[in-house]
Amino acid sequence: MKKGYLIEFKNINKIFPGVVALDNVSFNIEKGEVHAIVGENGAGKSTLIKILSGVEQKDAGEIFIDGIEMFINNPKNALELGITCIYQELPLSPSLSIADNIFLGQEIKKFGFLNKSMQNNIAKQLFKEFDINVDPRTLVEKLSVSMQQITAIVKAMMKDAKVFIMDEPTATLGEHEVSRLFTFIEKIKGKGISILYISHRMDEIFGIADRVTVLKDGKFMGTRVVSEITKNELINLMSGQNIHDASLVYDPERAISQEIVLEIKNLFYKQLLQNINIKVRKGEILGITGLVGAGKTELLKCIYGIARLDRGEIIFNEKVLGVGGGDISTGFSVSGFVPEDRKREGLFLNLNIIKNISISSLRFLTTFTYINQKKETSLVKKNMRDLDIKASSILQQVQFLSGGNQQKVILSRWLSSYKKILLLDEPTRGVDVIAKIEIYKLINMLSKKGISIIFSSSDVSEVLSISDRVVTLRNGRIVNIFKKEGFNKEEVLRDIMFG
Ligand SMILES: Nc1ncnc2c1ncn2[C@@H]1O[C@H](COP(=O)(O)OP(=O)(O)OP(=O)(O)O)[C@@H](O)[C@H]1O
Ligand SMILES: [Mg+2]
Repeated sequence: MKKGYLIEFKNINKIFPGVVALDNVSFNIEKGEVHAIVGENGAGKSTLIKILSGVEQKDAGEIFIDGIEMFINNPKNALELGITCIYQELPLSPSLSIADNIFLGQEIKKFGFLNKSMQNNIAKQLFKEFDINVDPRTLVEKLSVSMQQITAIVKAMMKDAKVFIMDEPTATLGEHEVSRLFTFIEKIKGKGISILYISHRMDEIFGIADRVTVLKDGKFMGTRVVSEITKNELINLMSGQNIHDASLVYDPERAISQEIVLEIKNLFYKQLLQNINIKVRKGEILGITGLVGAGKTELLKCIYGIARLDRGEIIFNEKVLGVGGGDISTGFSVSGFVPEDRKREGLFLNLNIIKNISISSLRFLTTFTYINQKKETSLVKKNMRDLDIKASSILQQVQFLSGGNQQKVILSRWLSSYKKILLLDEPTRGVDVIAKIEIYKLINMLSKKGISIIFSSSDVSEVLSISDRVVTLRNGRIVNIFKKEGFNKEEVLRDIMFG
């Protein structure tokens, strides 16, 4: 039996000021398939799904659903057509229970009164269909991110959803949560529902997608059956270049000195970090991994000086930076920090790219309090070239850049600021594979210049491929410190999950 097309995109065009976000894109999505969309940062993936879900309007082209042309003018239209988007901000009320969320707006009533026990029973049954045992009276705010996503999906399925759109749904999930979400996706697919899945993680595409469509600079490059293509072929299709070995990111030729530049001694911070001891060498790349909530971000913030230690010392070049209280000025002057939540902590969204990049290099760009604008512009242009930042101009406000390009802006800010230590918190989150390789190369280059890099990531494979040593954290404590020779993915996973 030939499966029908659920959705057909025909010659979709979308132009934003200064950029063609989608250029004549045509392809289709089958019923009951997981269809991945991949492409470099700024390729047009999010724009396409915003059009499908009614958040943006196309300039030209047609969308067919079950063979009929549909006009999706707003998000409500999309929902009525069975198109549901699982965004990072989920449409749930945190202070209500799972069942109350699922039945919100479609409550079950008996003699005019809310029938809670019936709602709870049905909700429990709905989850059971997916082999998930959960108390439907649990408040949503108590749930893990993946369970919240699942709740949002179950809620939408009550309303006859046909397609779920997921734009980087695993970005905030730990490894075990990812596997739970994937099992769940397999099950909804079995019910004939399609999933449109956007991710930069190749392992995920190859683990879960049936077909994959590649966009590049707003253009359709092709759709492939995942089982018939290799990872390298896919990356080459995305980049339009021949990248031979994407997995080669560690540079063994870097000579790391034995000189200790940073020492963390008996550090305690709230209940979040307990007795942390780490020594970091000059030019070393030190990876830190752990589940969400293990304390990675807090540790970096303590080193940077924006979190006050309760006990312990942070010693830089034999000088104590923080005794029982974080010394911000010294922390700032020796280290640069790329925070995990770029929108809230890192970027000045309404400023342009120039200001966002040059802000931490002003010391080097200023003569007698005047900013040397020529120097500033050339520095920013160089950074944009080095990291391949896609924007219509250096004057563009960063709020209009694609997610990955925002991340590159924040990273490039520190690359030219001459710090001795670089603290990177999930620096490749949302960054495309090709740019990831660029970032790894830059990290190697900085470490060759003697800069020490502390790299935190919940992506265990990534941490193991780039680092000289890897620290495993669990519940605020160090479980182990692995040396390159002793790297073992299973052991690292066991450490971070079970301690
Ligand atoms: N509201 C907007 N105003 C101006 N330009 C925009 C707007 N939204 C997107 N763009 C531009 O359209 C292009 C496509 O962006 P889009 O967000 O679709 O990329 P993406 O493939 O999702 O990238 P990423 O992997 O980084 O999330 C980019 O050049 C982006 O800067
Ligand atoms: Mg995007």
